[in-house]
Amino acid sequence: MTIPGQETFYEQVGGRATFEKLVRAFYEGVRQDPGLWYMYPQHDLEGAVQRLTGFLEQYWGGPTTYSETRGHPRLRMRHAAFKVNPDARDRWLKHMRAALDTMEMSPMHEATLWDYLDRAAHSLVNTFEP
Ligand code: HEM
Repeated sequence: MTIPGQETFYEQVGGRATFEKLVRAFYEGVRQDPGLWYMYPQHDLEGAVQRLTGFLEQYWGGPTTYSETRGHPRLRMRHAAFKVNPDARDRWLKHMRAALDTMEMSPMHEATLWDYLDRAAHSLVNTFEP
């Protein structure tokens, strides 16, 4: 949400550089987790970095490049191709938590971002098959 004359969350946390740093740290963890990494495009890690960074910067009030290039996010639909069971969700969240811990964000921004990521990850579970 943008209040006229006030900075967006995106700007408050430092813009694209902050989101890209977070996502790169996240994928460093994912890459070392065979239980999660197998789902990801093995030869297009950079593409995955750009897609998740672009989505997050747009969500938090930054440029809308993500939707201009990828269309409407439709996250549940885009994840339908992957087996997102509670184990995958917990791995995803573990790497995101570790990535967030490498950032120097104010406690309020960090809590706001984490709350969103945690809820989003829970909403994307699409199977309970092991
Ligand atoms: C719950 C566990 C999750 C799993 C196992 C998972 C898995 C994946 C995989 C395998 C991809 C394909 C990588 C690529 O080619 O870009 C992907 C893409 C993506 N994920 Fe997730 N994801 C999870 C949670 C989330 C959450 C919580 C968000 C958002 C807050 C998210 C946002 C995205 C976005 C934006 C893309 C790129 C979509 C596109 O434009 O094609 N994911 N995810």
